[in-house]
Amino acid sequence: MKSNMKNYVSLWEMQDAAVGLLPGLAKDYYQSGSEDEYALRENERMYRELRLRYRVLQKMGDVDTSTTLFGREISFPLYVAPAAFQCMAHSEGEIANARAAADRGVGFCLSTLATQPMEEVAAETQGRIPLWFQLYMYKDQGRTRELLQRAKNSGYQAIALTVDAPAWGKREVDIHNGFHLPHGMWIRNVDPDGTETLPEGDGSSGLSDYIGTRFHTVLGWDDIDWIRNEVDLPIIIKGVHHPEDVRLAVEHGVDGVWVSNHGGRQLDTSTATVAALPDCVEAADGKLPIVVDGGIRRGTDILKALALGANAVAVGRPALWGLAVGGAQGVSRMLEILGDEFRTAMKLIGAKKVSDLKPEMVVHSGWPFAGR
Ligand SMILES: Cc1cc2nc3c(=O)[nH]c(=O)nc-3n(C[C@H](O)[C@H](O)[C@H](O)COP(=O)(O)O)c2cc1C
Repeated sequence: MKSNMKNYVSLWEMQDAAVGLLPGLAKDYYQSGSEDEYALRENERMYRELRLRYRVLQKMGDVDTSTTLFGREISFPLYVAPAAFQCMAHSEGEIANARAAADRGVGFCLSTLATQPMEEVAAETQGRIPLWFQLYMYKDQGRTRELLQRAKNSGYQAIALTVDAPAWGKREVDIHNGFHLPHGMWIRNVDPDGTETLPEGDGSSGLSDYIGTRFHTVLGWDDIDWIRNEVDLPIIIKGVHHPEDVRLAVEHGVDGVWVSNHGGRQLDTSTATVAALPDCVEAADGKLPIVVDGGIRRGTDILKALALGANAVAVGRPALWGLAVGGAQGVSRMLEILGDEFRTAMKLIGAKKVSDLKPEMVVHSGWPFAGR
């Protein structure tokens, strides 16, 4: 591990260090995808397959990376995606992650399955950044209702409902490990006193057993109406992949769509999220904002997603690597690297502001004859 975070120069270096540091159970849980992990690899690979066309002599001085989302200006269109159980990476877990996001001016989304209470995480950001709460609905409606009210009361500004988990993806390493939470960690948002521990998996993942018994997984569009009746916050649906669902989201008055395949952890062999993006953008037709995540590891990846029409992007695993190598400082360095790379890429492509990024700047390597 490097004591000076500046010595990490790319996210890949951070990943390598984190993988070496994390205990096996946590490393496997964070790094894995479902089944053969094609979707996981494809998310990253597709960004490498996309190539960029750049302009020159544009008198590039400073670039403006700010955009507006849900009426609020953000200095950099990046979010830290919700990831469960962050205390496995660092003792401060979600609190350190949110602090780093707030210090760097990027958005933060907290998982229902956090190992720190949502109120303490929110307090850490002091209203400096867009703060979202990711919702898994429980079968127990009272419990879901309480989560929504607490999220609103503690300052979360949107609800990101995860919709790509009607079944739990088959994560084979977690099954082998009988995944369970290490001693002293529990799902603080729903179990303040730690009385309801995640079961130790017996020939199965304890998380998958928990979800199978507790979560309301038979979700439909009427559940969006239920949430809207419970809480007065914008609703984003997370895990969308198909343009028809974007059209339905517009029809049902959803406020935002998050194009995601859960970091390749749900339906294996689903197409890369950046490949799913253009059709989803077209279906949205500017009527709602689109966030995309999955496989973003470089500033050029962010640039490609924005050029293809996303309003913002999010990263999941990179924040966990940052936490593992240096807590809040590690996450902060990860965000700094992405920010620096993104600004450099904007200058090199000839875009002074985010709205200068256009789909014509991106071509697929399989079609090298740019523009024809
Ligand atoms: C370890 C881990 C835990 C996750 N937990 C959640 C979760 O609790 N809720 C959720 O909606 N998505 C969860 N996700 C998915 C992320 O929000 C995000 O969609 C994904 O990580 C993006 O891909 P990336 O890791 O390649 O950046 C998790 C992802 C990982 C890697």
